[in-house]
This record gives sequence, structure tokens and C-alpha cells, in this order.
Amino acid sequence: MNRRAVLGIGGAALVAAGLGWSIFEPKRPGKLLRSRAPLPKPFEARLVVPPVLQGDQIVQREAELRILPGLTTRAWTYNGSFPGPTVVSRSGRPAAVTHRNQLSEATVVHLHGGHTPAAADGYPIDYLLPETATTMAHHGDMPMGDVAKGSRTYTYPMAQRAATLWYHDHRMGFTGPAVYRGLAGFHLVRDDEEDALPLPRGERELPLMITDRAFEEDGSFRYPEGDDEYMNGVLGDVVLVNGLPWPVHEVDPARYRLRLLNASNARRYRLELDPQPPGGRAFVQIGSDGGLLEKPVRHDTLEVAPAERFDVVVDFGRYRPGTRVRLVDRDGGDVMRFDVTGGGRGDDSGVPDRLSAGAGPLPPAVRTRTFRFNRAANGMWRINDLEYRPGRALARPRLGEVERWRFVTDFHHPIHLHLNHFQVVSRNAAEPGPYDSGWKDTVDLRASEAVEIAVRFTDYTGTFMLHCHNLEHEDMAMMADFTVE
Ligand code: C2O
Ligand code: CU
Repeated sequence: MNRRAVLGIGGAALVAAGLGWSIFEPKRPGKLLRSRAPLPKPFEARLVVPPVLQGDQIVQREAELRILPGLTTRAWTYNGSFPGPTVVSRSGRPAAVTHRNQLSEATVVHLHGGHTPAAADGYPIDYLLPETATTMAHHGDMPMGDVAKGSRTYTYPMAQRAATLWYHDHRMGFTGPAVYRGLAGFHLVRDDEEDALPLPRGERELPLMITDRAFEEDGSFRYPEGDDEYMNGVLGDVVLVNGLPWPVHEVDPARYRLRLLNASNARRYRLELDPQPPGGRAFVQIGSDGGLLEKPVRHDTLEVAPAERFDVVVDFGRYRPGTRVRLVDRDGGDVMRFDVTGGGRGDDSGVPDRLSAGAGPLPPAVRTRTFRFNRAANGMWRINDLEYRPGRALARPRLGEVERWRFVTDFHHPIHLHLNHFQVVSRNAAEPGPYDSGWKDTVDLRASEAVEIAVRFTDYTGTFMLHCHNLEHEDMAMMADFTVE
């Protein structure tokens, strides 16, 4: 049987049965890529929290990671780890991060969710060339933006609320492979409003980056570069949390704050705890992409599309000590496990009914624009029938104005806007959905849906990106410039 047959419907059914993945949900984008290395056993690795960045320098370099038992994985990393170091900054205090590129190829750094001037936003052709670069060998006749060699300092004003942001590679046409190889990390913004709340903190605050990967026999990441069969998105058969397969973490019977980030290229998760605590509503959502909600929202299930963040509090005190609580993907399999211990100090944390002053609804929009996300006959992904071309703005909003943007899809697309967070105002001409609360920068659209958002363009003029965050779609041209004037 050739590989095509293995991955065809019949073969995939066997694969799916064997792995416990249900890959036939029609709305699910992407195609399963199987590992050639033996799959690790779940719940053997201990969860690791990524280190906090000390100083202000990040070196992009290759490193050998220990992900699978007995094998090493050569990865592209920020400072030698995957996820990269967590950058922690303070609202209102500018943060400057200097990236040095010791890889063999050009990179671009984007702070996802950052309210960032265009020059530091990681425009996809603002390349950071390797220290050793002599030419732009891999880029042929692609246009070039603001190019730096060796190192670049990205300065972020941080005039934004406390939120769970993340940084990742954003190079033109190569974001999927670069992120897959390891170029992703958290960037947490803190502020006084949030500090004043009695939320779980310290060891009880866990940033959790969820990704899926497939592995080659030698332990390296397996990615089907240039294989048209995967233009719909690459799905791996191993779920990593903070870079380790299906890890386990011991928790006290107490509240924990989980900052969930789906950093997968294409996989969506429907997360649940198994078992559910008595009475359900295990996830108390306190924040979304753009920081705290006005009031908590309780969920049994969280649907998390690529690039979305859900900031939730889970009270493991609702379980009997000794319970092993799996975090599972209802559409896939296991994600990780929390083992509830009997001990630990007490719990003086809480989730107040009022979390944040919020900002209220935005003033009425001065205009409405429609963006259609669909696939062309040649297989390329497009916005308003156009493949991405740097320098061609599909919209020119004016600084300070509020606009209503309408997104319409043919297929499942998580849609991301740079520069400003937005509010979802409607979904399929009805109320926003259960996962649309608060300030968002990425909104998940299933096939044939229409979502309207309200956004105010503030503080910075210049050119920014609107794109699908299925990274295979993004690389296959589902991206557009908009220029704030
Ligand atoms: Cu997370 Cu334009 O990206
Ligand atoms: Cu898409």
C-alpha cells in the first residue's frame, strides 16, 4: 500500500481506530500525519512550565530536545527550549526584546495579541537574516521589507491590558514549518487591575501551550513540506503540552489558573475534564485573547481553535484526593492529566463575580467591510478572491474609527487580526457564541459561517495583517494587508 492509500479514507479509518482519533468529523480541517517513531505512552512525562525570560535577549538556534523516550528532536528554538522562554511584561511599561538569529534561515517575530506599531509587528517580509547569512538564498525573487541581519530589537509599548499573548515566527510562506519546528513562546502581560484580584497565582498559575506533532523515526519533527495533500492543515498524532507528550501534573485540591493556548498549526480542540467534577462546569473562564472578561463564564467544554487563548480557573478541590483528572479532546484523545493529591497548603484564591471594568460596547461602526475566506480552484486559500501579496491593502481604515468587519467562510478558518483586539457582535446573524466573549484577536469560524466583529483602530498607523491562523492556510496565501491611515 502506498502512502496515499494509507492516508486515504480506508487507511485513515484503521489508523483512527488504532489511535483513538476520530478524524471524520466533517468540519474538522486538516489531515492526519502519522509518526514513524514509536508513539510515547501517555502520562509518563511530567509537565514542565516554560522558563521566564531573564534579561531581554532571545537567541534563535537549533537545539536537541528530549520529547520522546530514548530519542532526541532537533528543533528550532528560542533560547534552546520549546516552548521558548515566557516573556513577562507590565502593562504601560515598554518592553524591548532583542532576537538574534543563529538559525540557517531567515525568521520574523510576531507578538500575537500585541498592540504593536507596524515596524515591530513582524510583517512577513521584514526578515531577520541569520548572523551568518551572505544572501537571501531561500527567498528567490520574493519581495523584501525591512530586512535586518543577525539581530533585531522588537520594542513593544505594552499600552494594553493584562493578557496571555504569545510570540511566534511569521515569515512569509513559511510560518507553518517554522512554528512546527518550535518557534513559539508565551508572552504574559500583567497589570494592577488583575493583580488586585484573588486569582490563583505562583505554582497555581499554569501557562499551557497545546500543540500536535508527528515524528520521524529518528525523533525529528515530521512535517510534509510542499505536499499538496496537507494544504488543508497538518494534524499530528502526538499532543504536546508545553513541549512534552500527554504530560501529567500533580495538583493540590485547590483552584488553579490555566492559561490555555492552542498553538497547533491546524488542530482545533474540544477540551473537557474527565471525570467532570460533581455539578459540571469545570472551566470557569476568566479571560480570553485580550485579557479579563467582565464576569466569569462557566463551561463544561472549551472549543479552542488555533491561536485562541482561554484563561480559566479549575477548582481541583471539587475532586476527591487521589482522582486522576484527564484533560481530553472530545474530537481526538488525551491531552494531559492532573493528579489530585491530598495535601498542599490551603486555598485562599477565588473568582469574583466582577473581574474587570471592561470597556462596554464600542461606539457604532462608521462602515462595514466584508471579507470572504475561501479556496480557489487551484487549491490556494484566498481572501476576497485574492491570494496574499505584500503591499496590497484590502482595507484602509482610519485611525480612531470603529469599523464592523464581516467574515464569511467556505470552510473552517480561525481568523486573526493584528493590532487591535475586537468584540464579536454576531455569529450567523444571531448572538455571539459561547466562546466569543470578551476582547478577541482570533475568532473561530466553521464552514459556511458569518461572524461580525467590531474593532477600533487605535494608536498606530501603518500596515498590519488579517489572516487565517490555520498555518497551512496562512502559508498558502490566506492573508491580507490592511493599512491604518
Ligand atoms: Cu499568530 Cu499573524 O499571527
Ligand atoms: Cu483557514
